[in-house]
Amino acid sequence: MPHTELIQEIRRLAAERDALILAHNYQRDEIQALADICGDSLGLSQEAARTDKQVIVFCGVHFMAESAAILAPEKTVLIPRADAGCPMADMITPDGVRLMRERHPGAPVVTYVNSSAAVKAESDICCTSANAVRVVNSLAADEVILTPDRNLGMYIARHTGKRCHLWDGYCPTHDRLAVEDIKRALADYPDAVFMAHPECPPEILDLAHHICSTSGMYDYARQNPARQFIVGTEAGILYRLRLENPGKEFILPTTRLICPNMKLTSLEDVRAALLTMSPRITVPAEVRERAKLALDRMLAVPRD
Ligand code: 13P
Ligand code: SF4
Repeated sequence: MPHTELIQEIRRLAAERDALILAHNYQRDEIQALADICGDSLGLSQEAARTDKQVIVFCGVHFMAESAAILAPEKTVLIPRADAGCPMADMITPDGVRLMRERHPGAPVVTYVNSSAAVKAESDICCTSANAVRVVNSLAADEVILTPDRNLGMYIARHTGKRCHLWDGYCPTHDRLAVEDIKRALADYPDAVFMAHPECPPEILDLAHHICSTSGMYDYARQNPARQFIVGTEAGILYRLRLENPGKEFILPTTRLICPNMKLTSLEDVRAALLTMSPRITVPAEVRERAKLALDRMLAVPRD
C-alpha cells in the first residue's frame, strides 16, 4: 500500500477504535511522524494514565506498554511488535530484587522503569531518567537499592550523595559509547555542546555538558544558544531534534547508537495491530496492583 494511503488507513482505524498512538523518542522517523504523542518514558506513562481514549497503541518496547497497562488497566494496550523487548529490562528478575533486599535489609528499592511488571511489583518506587535524582532525594532513607541500570545508578549516587547499592545491568546501546567517540567528536566540532543520556557509562557522562532524559534533550537543544550538539543517546532522537531546530546541527558521535528493538515497529505493524486489536499487553491483577503502587509513588513525587 502506498505510504499516504497507509497513513490514512491507520488514522481511520485509530479513530474507529478510539485509539491513541504513543511513540517513544527512539522510534523510526515515520512512526514518530504518525504518533499522536511522542515522548520519553515518563511523559508517555503520564499520557497513558491520563487519556480518555479506550485503546493505546504503544510504539516502543515491551516494558513501556506494560507500564501503560498497569496505569490504565481499563484500557486496551496494544504493542504493534510483541518481540520489541529491552535487554536491560531482562537483566533483572524478581528474585534478583529479593536477593538485593536480603543483602541490604531496610534499604528501599528504586527500580528504573526499564524493568518488567513483576520486578516493579517487588520494588518500593520506580524512577525514569527524567526524575531519578528527584525520586531518590524524596526518600527519607540514606541508603537505597537501585536496579537494574548500573550507569543510571552511578549517576544517581553522584548526584544525591546517598549510599547506593547497584544492580549490574546496563543498556547495550548506551554502554557501547566509548570515550574515544566523544573525544573525536569534540575535536571535530570544538564549538559543540555534548548532551548525554544517564544510561551512558560514567566516563562518558564526565565529558558531558548536560545530562538528561530523551525529552530533556529537546528542551536543552531549544534553549541552548549553541549551533552544534553532540548527541549521546539513541539515533531516533535526531528526527525531532532536527525538525524542531532547523538552524542547528546535531551530531551522533558513532553509528553504533542504534537500539534494534526500538527500530522494529513499522507502519504496517501499527495498521495490523489496529486491525486485529493485537498483540495486546495485559498484566495479572496481583502483579499489576503492586507494580502500580511503585509507579504511582513515582508519579506523586513533586517536581522541583
Ligand atoms: P527515556 O526515559 O529518557 O526516554 O529513556 C528510555 C530508554 O529506554 C533509554 O534507553
Ligand atoms: Fe532498552 Fe537501551 Fe533500547 Fe532503551 S535503548 S529500550 S534501555 S536497550
